[in-house]
Amino acid sequence: MTHKDEYFNRAKQEGYRSRSAYKLTQLDATATLLDEGATVVDLGAAPGGWLQVAQQAVGDTGTVVGVDRQRIDALDGVETVRGDITEDSTKDEVREMVGEADVVCSDMAPNMTGEYDLDHARSVHLVRQALEVALDLLGPGGDFVAKVFDGQDLADLQADIEPEFEYVREVRPDASREASSELFLVAKGRLTAPVAEGDTVTVDIVDTGHEGDGIAKIEGYTLFVSGAEEGATVDVQVEEVKPTYAFARSVE
Ligand SMILES: C[S@@+](CC[C@H](N)C(=O)[O-])C[C@H]1O[C@@H](n2cnc3c(N)ncnc32)[C@H](O)[C@@H]1O
Repeated sequence: MTHKDEYFNRAKQEGYRSRSAYKLTQLDATATLLDEGATVVDLGAAPGGWLQVAQQAVGDTGTVVGVDRQRIDALDGVETVRGDITEDSTKDEVREMVGEADVVCSDMAPNMTGEYDLDHARSVHLVRQALEVALDLLGPGGDFVAKVFDGQDLADLQADIEPEFEYVREVRPDASREASSELFLVAKGRLTAPVAEGDTVTVDIVDTGHEGDGIAKIEGYTLFVSGAEEGATVDVQVEEVKPTYAFARSVE
């Protein structure tokens, strides 16, 4: 039996609205995306297989919002927005509904022309639109997942996503069709720090951490500075940036 038949049949038996549901299940198993109580925004969500998987994972304390140009039939515990996510009015509606999100995922696909380069370019455009929504909605440490068709612009796309997250990886779920060029970019750990790796800044050491590092604050964000004494003002270079803190070292 081909993968297509296998997942199609499973979806029917297990009550999922689409075989795509298994792609999100497999992405979650690989990259730990869907925590209980989390807020998930799903772009290109119709007919709703991913919404079902997300709702089951986040449970009653979580929030799931699905967005699509197409109608999404009502689903318990899921809110929906009907609209084109490339339009500002749709983005505004989603922002008002959600506030801050833990996960933004996109299974959006362009209408296929069969012309490989064009379909690839349109798919990359949709990922960039989804990324805009993700950067707007994700809180520190939030995750972004988006389907894209492989092709020449993939490396540039990935390079543009990378500085915004702790790391980005490509995942090809088993449930994707064998001959498909689709893959998923999984970006973990949204970085909202006011500093970037390599930056040099002057900071006041206002506290001492458990491990003896000096602690400085930049706009409320914590910088651990090795070997710096409380009360000192030092020039530091940022070495490693995490969603809620960074490591830095003193420079001469
Ligand atoms: C592969 S389907 C999603 C299947 C879904 N993940 C599921 O599990 O049921 C792709 C969806 O993306 C939607 N889509 C494509 N471009 C869009 C856009 N610009 N705005 C909103 N939805 C879009 C399509 O309408 C389509 O329903």
